[in-house]
Amino acid sequence: MKKIIVAIDGYSSSGKSTMARELARRIGYVYVDSGAMYRAVTLYAIRHGMAGGGKIDRDALVAALPGISVTFEPAGADGVQHTLLNGEDVEREIREMQVSSHVSPVAEIAEVRERLVRLQQEAGEAKGIVMDGRDIGTTVFPDAEMKVFVEASPEVRARRRLRELEQKGAEANYEEVLENIRTRDHIDTTRAVSPLRKAADAHVLDNGRLTPAEQMEWLQNLYNTISNE
Ligand code: DC
Repeated sequence: MKKIIVAIDGYSSSGKSTMARELARRIGYVYVDSGAMYRAVTLYAIRHGMAGGGKIDRDALVAALPGISVTFEPAGADGVQHTLLNGEDVEREIREMQVSSHVSPVAEIAEVRERLVRLQQEAGEAKGIVMDGRDIGTTVFPDAEMKVFVEASPEVRARRRLRELEQKGAEANYEEVLENIRTRDHIDTTRAVSPLRKAADAHVLDNGRLTPAEQMEWLQNLYNTISNE
């Protein structure tokens, strides 16, 4: 079996991170949640007064970029890999609504993307990696051996996201979550730099129709086939 790069892209709250993390665990690969990196930079902007009302002070954030580091701590006892912002564990905070509401405009900034894409490419140099995001199969690793594009309707994704937030004890309502997903879909697919789109050679997974167990079986089979080629 050869070591490969697995790129999993899709819309927000499509369940791709859960699948990507589980696949990496099963096959002993490193898992990188690229969305967490954009979220961490967004949290930095919020904490430093560069964000408000869905808007970002682009110039201030670009100037601050050299002083922002985003790294990961390997999965601990809870099985979840934690995101570190300048060494501080921010895994919980980056999932909150305030970050979700400001992350799309941050991810539109070319300088932010350039920097994070470079870090992502470095993480994949030795292969043996599963990375999920929006532009992994198109921009970060256009030569990835295995590319998956996850699809699900906004309503299916809003219900999933609401469940996640409720389980974490966060306050949210369905309409607000659905609206946030629609807004992010729009920004993610229409932005000038690296918009979300399916790579021509990606395999499509419609997860509105499959159970989580069926999705994992589908992914595992695809991985087995490709890594044995
Ligand atoms: O997957 P997520 O919801 O955690 O991603 C957060 C945001 O980051 C989302 O609005 C899109 C953006 N993103 C991106 O532009 N490129 C990536 N590779 C990953 C995420």
